[in-house]
Amino acid sequence: MAKPSRYQGYFHAFRDIIRTMHAHDQLDEVLALVVQKISEVLHAKGTLLRLLNQDTDQFEVKAAYGVGEKYLSKGPVNKEKLLILPNEYSQILQITDIWNAPRVEYPQQAWDEGIRMMLDVPLGVRKEMIGLIRIYLPEIREFTEDQLDFLLTIAEQCACIIERVRLSENQRTHYFHMAAQLEKMSSLGRLAAGIAHEINNPLTGIMLYSTSLIKKATADGPFQDGLQVIIDETRRCKTIIDGLLEFSRNRSPERTMRNLNDIIKSSLKILDNEFQLHHIKVEEKISEKLPAILLDANQLEQVFVNLLINAIQAIGDRGQLTVETGKTPLHRAFVAITDTGKGISREHMKTIFDPFFTTKADGNGLGLAISHNIVHNHGGDIQVTSKVGEGTTFLVSFPFT
Ligand SMILES: Nc1ncnc2c1ncn2[C@@H]1O[C@H](COP(=O)(O)OP(=O)(O)OP(=O)(O)O)[C@@H](O)[C@H]1O
Ligand SMILES: [Mg+2]
Repeated sequence: MAKPSRYQGYFHAFRDIIRTMHAHDQLDEVLALVVQKISEVLHAKGTLLRLLNQDTDQFEVKAAYGVGEKYLSKGPVNKEKLLILPNEYSQILQITDIWNAPRVEYPQQAWDEGIRMMLDVPLGVRKEMIGLIRIYLPEIREFTEDQLDFLLTIAEQCACIIERVRLSENQRTHYFHMAAQLEKMSSLGRLAAGIAHEINNPLTGIMLYSTSLIKKATADGPFQDGLQVIIDETRRCKTIIDGLLEFSRNRSPERTMRNLNDIIKSSLKILDNEFQLHHIKVEEKISEKLPAILLDANQLEQVFVNLLINAIQAIGDRGQLTVETGKTPLHRAFVAITDTGKGISREHMKTIFDPFFTTKADGNGLGLAISHNIVHNHGGDIQVTSKVGEGTTFLVSFPFT
């Protein structure tokens, strides 16, 4: 019988890992197998896999094999600690002096566990380090190029699968969020429509009588100021009710073949004065290659004006607004509106599309709810990305054929 080659172990480990990667959508299971197989094939004491949490910028333990509890309880590691050398995403770092390596946080514990050498194998996607596999060895060893290549190949595959699973998880979350949002919108819409109609009639009565009374009240008499307050406040209620009716009407769009570029340009024109007044520089990156889409131009203009007004309000005074249009490889035409305003906190991010959610003293909280409805009635989508203190991007996109 042929003697097994020294690479057979590596080959089997590689095959098992690749099979599991393609058969599972559960990241935990894939990562658990990766650390186990690496430990076994290298006869290591153990292996730890950390992934970068983008919100906290820390590397968190996601899978471990053969590593003591004491070691695992150490918690996340700061990004700076692990990204000391440039180009680390493509090289394996061999740590032979664990006492003096700056990236080994707990040398004493490592020594007590019988660890004498460590290998840091980076997990990289598009030149970004998204994680790190650390292998713990019981003695100092020399590694051949082939062995290091094996580890880098596993890491490459692992990084790809992490990206794939994360993407599908994000899409799933986005889908559920959208479904919940639509449900909430439609029940609120029905409720709002009923209330709005009931309130609209008495408001018209109040408006009629108060405007006729104020004409009869003497300018310096006791009723003038009070009546003016009634008129102003009633007008405010009417604005809210009109917004509510607009939101709940949910009328189906009257579509014609239109180019998004024309609609965003006319929306920008409407607000020209506002931009100047607030010293906001507007940059237009308009793609001339946008296809025409079936759209209700009036409704879409309302959406863009809402988004632009929000951007102006977020900037306050002095800032930049960038409007970009284009098409994606997935046959969607998009308009992206980016401001350098105050941004939206993570907490608010969940509720900005809810009707009546506002952080403004004089806001109604209906602009985004209405815009969301209109865009979804067109089969489109609105997405937001934001960083507090830096700015916000609203991306509105529609499929085209
Ligand atoms: N570009 C933006 N930058 C920062 N925060 C934003 C931005 N756009 C929306 N928001 C947040 O989302 C909330 C909801 O926006 P929405 O347009 O629905 O209501 P509003 O602007 O408060 O009131 P209105 O009904 O007058 O539009 C805002 O109050 C604000 O907190
Ligand atoms: Mg608004």
